[in-house]
Amino acid sequence: MSSFEFPGEYYEIMRGDFRDLAAETEFLSSLAPAGGRVLDLGCGTGTNLRELGARGFSCLGADQSACFIEYARGRGGEGVEYVHGRAEDFVTDDRFDLVYSLFMTLNYLPRAELRGVLRKVRGLLRPGGHVVLEFGHLLNFVEGFQQHTVGHHRGDDGVLITRLARQAINPHAANWRNEETLLVRDREGRVSLYDNFFDQAVLTGPEVRDLLDDAGLRTVAEYGGFRKEPAPFHGRGPLVIVATAKDGDSE
Ligand SMILES: C[S@@+](CC[C@H](N)C(=O)[O-])C[C@H]1O[C@@H](n2cnc3c(N)ncnc32)[C@H](O)[C@@H]1O
Repeated sequence: MSSFEFPGEYYEIMRGDFRDLAAETEFLSSLAPAGGRVLDLGCGTGTNLRELGARGFSCLGADQSACFIEYARGRGGEGVEYVHGRAEDFVTDDRFDLVYSLFMTLNYLPRAELRGVLRKVRGLLRPGGHVVLEFGHLLNFVEGFQQHTVGHHRGDDGVLITRLARQAINPHAANWRNEETLLVRDREGRVSLYDNFFDQAVLTGPEVRDLLDDAGLRTVAEYGGFRKEPAPFHGRGPLVIVATAKDGDSE
């Protein structure tokens, strides 16, 4: 379960501190034909889709956060549309040249739903289409574990977000829980508080490769980041997997 129900503009500020958007855009753009159809599962505030829309792709995003989808719709963007809902429940007759899920969103899906979601993704591909999954795997969580963290994130306009996070691991369920309080000073100097929490499945590379295989998807490349860094040795760091349909065709 996860919430992510807080103003999208604050998420965007924090995301900017963690991510390399230019590299993500370049990487994703290279995997779809010009003007191709793109689906972002767990699109958050639509950050990636706005970039791809500006490059002429036809974009659809789905996310379970009502706040984030409202923010994304408000930001607009050429050729970008959004659906509010869980990836598990997403249905469409549409087909896509590129389906992706970035920034650990795969880890947010309930473990029991992963198989079904990846099979569905396979069925959503156009002939020659690609899937890109970026997820955190086992040692990411183990090495990154801290019971309490405090981080500060600053917007350009005087917004200051202090993120107080509490983390817990349930090893029997291979589940990681993050509970955080966001203390926000807005541009007028007012202070507000938001609670956010999320559970993440602690995945391993082999587990995800098996799930892709089961879904009829073939891994064609693995990287440690969107600048095509080498895939991390012994599972440290995020893993970016690119896959295509095994038979190279759509359903
Ligand atoms: C860390 S954010 C990443 C968002 C976006 N992919 C990005 O790169 O900024 C994780 C996102 O996953 C979404 N999410 C979590 N569980 C989900 C689910 N079951 N279905 C769809 N979206 C989900 C959250 O609402 C949140 O927007």
